[in-house]
Amino acid sequence: MNKEENQENPLAPIVIKLNNIIVVLVVFVIALLILLAIYLPQSKPTKKVEIPAPDEFGNFTEAAKQNAKLVKDNSVYWHAPNETELNDNPKKDEILYGKDLIAHTADYFGPKGKVFIGSINGMNCQNCHLEAGTKVFGNNYSAVSSTYPKFRARSGAVENIYKRVNDCFERSLNGKALDTTSKEMKAIVSYINWIGKDVVKGKKPEGSGFKDITFLDRAADSDKGKEVYILKCQSCHQSNGLGTLNGDKSAYTYPPLWGPNSYNDGAGLYRLSNFAKYVKYNMPLGVSHNEAQLSDEEAWDVAAFVNSQPRPKKDLKNDWPKIEEKPFDHPFGPYKDGFSEEQHKYGPFKQIKEKQEAMKKQKKA
Ligand code: HEC
Ligand code: HEC
Repeated sequence: MNKEENQENPLAPIVIKLNNIIVVLVVFVIALLILLAIYLPQSKPTKKVEIPAPDEFGNFTEAAKQNAKLVKDNSVYWHAPNETELNDNPKKDEILYGKDLIAHTADYFGPKGKVFIGSINGMNCQNCHLEAGTKVFGNNYSAVSSTYPKFRARSGAVENIYKRVNDCFERSLNGKALDTTSKEMKAIVSYINWIGKDVVKGKKPEGSGFKDITFLDRAADSDKGKEVYILKCQSCHQSNGLGTLNGDKSAYTYPPLWGPNSYNDGAGLYRLSNFAKYVKYNMPLGVSHNEAQLSDEEAWDVAAFVNSQPRPKKDLKNDWPKIEEKPFDHPFGPYKDGFSEEQHKYGPFKQIKEKQEAMKKQKKA
């Protein structure tokens, strides 16, 4: 093949033209890409809601706490039925009597009690079951009617509401149990049943009982807790922990946290986790689950301080008939898990819980 033949090829001009078009197109595309790169606005970063992470002790920094308030809580919490509904309830008077017994227990059984004088320590049920047992995460009664009777490992038996109420009379109020046929017991149970009447049988509504807090990696420290107490609790509960009585000494204005008129060592609050959860979301008076003031660490430490002070003792020899059922923070041995009483009282609890769960699995297998 020679040059002449090549130039004589009738397709040659078309090929050259095509070539030129391709070159122009390539230049055009490159120019376009450069222009785009320069002028196209930076793609917007996707908007993230900052969810603050707790530190190793479960505490939030001040900045994170502020952020936490911005994160919307979409939970639908339980609320108590409206009292106006009672107007056409044949048990209205009984239910309202029950409410008064919960809110002003001392008026009936305290130092100047109308029903019994001095059959309890002078505290009210409401001191621990806030707002007459209706406050979200304030140890409310929303789940009682729906979950009792139930088996409780503490007694090793199926308990009805009467038994559970008397448990608090004998432990939290360090007093005498009520006759289950008494007018007062019937009223208390009617009120508690009415509170939970809209809850589906077997269910625990959102906001019942206590809100969980994170475990510490160390034992709770009562020296640190004492500092928290002095700063944030003592103004009401007093430096001696004994609280203050009202003017006519018939009931407490600020209930005691220890001493002869406090809950005894068989009570729910004597377990560190219950105390820490109650206090974190309810104390100092006025805080709530969405506006806590104490860090988790402060709540555990102040629990350790308060629960290491003197208080009445209960004979607990019949509690926890199966020792492997004792909760991780039950502070009295013997135990099956090998951890000491000291660790069961103050923690660290994580290892105990893990061991207990492993033992349960083994038992099932
Ligand atoms: C010193 C605090 C305190 C006082 C006072 C107190 N309780 Fe309690 N109560 C508790 C704690 C803590 C629990 C939860 C215990 C647990 O889960 O181990 C509880 C649990 C209960 C429960 C079971 C709740 C459930 O959802 O299972 C009932 C019912 C109850 N209390 C009734 C009463 C009544 C009635 C009174 C007054 C006569 C009273 N309590 C006084 C601290 C208290
Ligand atoms: C502004 C006063 C005030 C402050 C501060 C305060 N409390 Fe209370 N506390 C109360 C009152 C009042 C009650 C009873 C609530 C009721 O009956 O409605 C109560 C109840 C309690 C109870 C349950 C009842 C009992 O006596 O066992 C505990 C536990 C408790 N507080 C712990 C604390 C701790 C811990 C702090 C500090 C972190 C604290 N409180 C700070 C006023 C206060």
